[in-house]
Amino acid sequence: MDLIVANWKMNYGGRDSLQLVEGLLERIKEPLPGEAVLCPPATALFMVGDRLKDTPLQLGCQNIFYEKEGAFTGEISPDFTREAGSNYAIIGHSERRQHFDEGPEVSRKVEAALDSGMTPILCVGESLQEREGGKAWAVVRKQLEEALEGINSEKLVGLAVAYEPVWAIGTGKSAQPEDAREMASHIIKELSYMKGLRVLYGGSVKPENIADFMALEEISGALVGGASLKAESFAQLIYWEK
Ligand code: PGA
Repeated sequence: MDLIVANWKMNYGGRDSLQLVEGLLERIKEPLPGEAVLCPPATALFMVGDRLKDTPLQLGCQNIFYEKEGAFTGEISPDFTREAGSNYAIIGHSERRQHFDEGPEVSRKVEAALDSGMTPILCVGESLQEREGGKAWAVVRKQLEEALEGINSEKLVGLAVAYEPVWAIGTGKSAQPEDAREMASHIIKELSYMKGLRVLYGGSVKPENIADFMALEEISGALVGGASLKAESFAQLIYWEK
């Protein structure tokens, strides 16, 4: 089933988040054509989670720490995001890799999400320089290896991997569908031992181009930043087939 994920990043506090949720709820009806997940900022998780109860929209979080509780000032417990209602956890987003040096700890976060009962949405993707240097797959493969290192493969059921070329995020310039297809097929081959794997595409997905990616057999969903910040455009993405 398609998986369309809204990554609101550090936009919208509690009140604005709820307003966006109301706008979405006005525009959808059950049953949804696929799964749709909203990932608000951590400070709005509980409020949004409460509002989404008994609706077809699901909750996700944008980041977690790998410990469940304790003396880690300012960190976000996977158990607490789960308590707020999160079914999904975005992990290793390129903005976190870039601004917070995330990398080696990603595998611990993937495992922590699974242990807390959430499905990880593991983000991978190369920079423009890496793509132009012909290294895109080598970079993504290394990110996958690092992110899954030491995790028992039987635990990794239903994992979502979001392929997001760094140069396509927030730029309005999406990848060529053929390049996304090629990368997704590498990922699927590399992780062929995994049950229920889904590969998503992310990077300037909008109502005008989502069908180009979703039409590809290798792509099972989209991770959306900018176009998820308005009810109208995100609702169009949920109903991309119509
Ligand atoms: P974008 O962001 O849709 O604004 O390019 C995607 C993402 O960062 O997940």
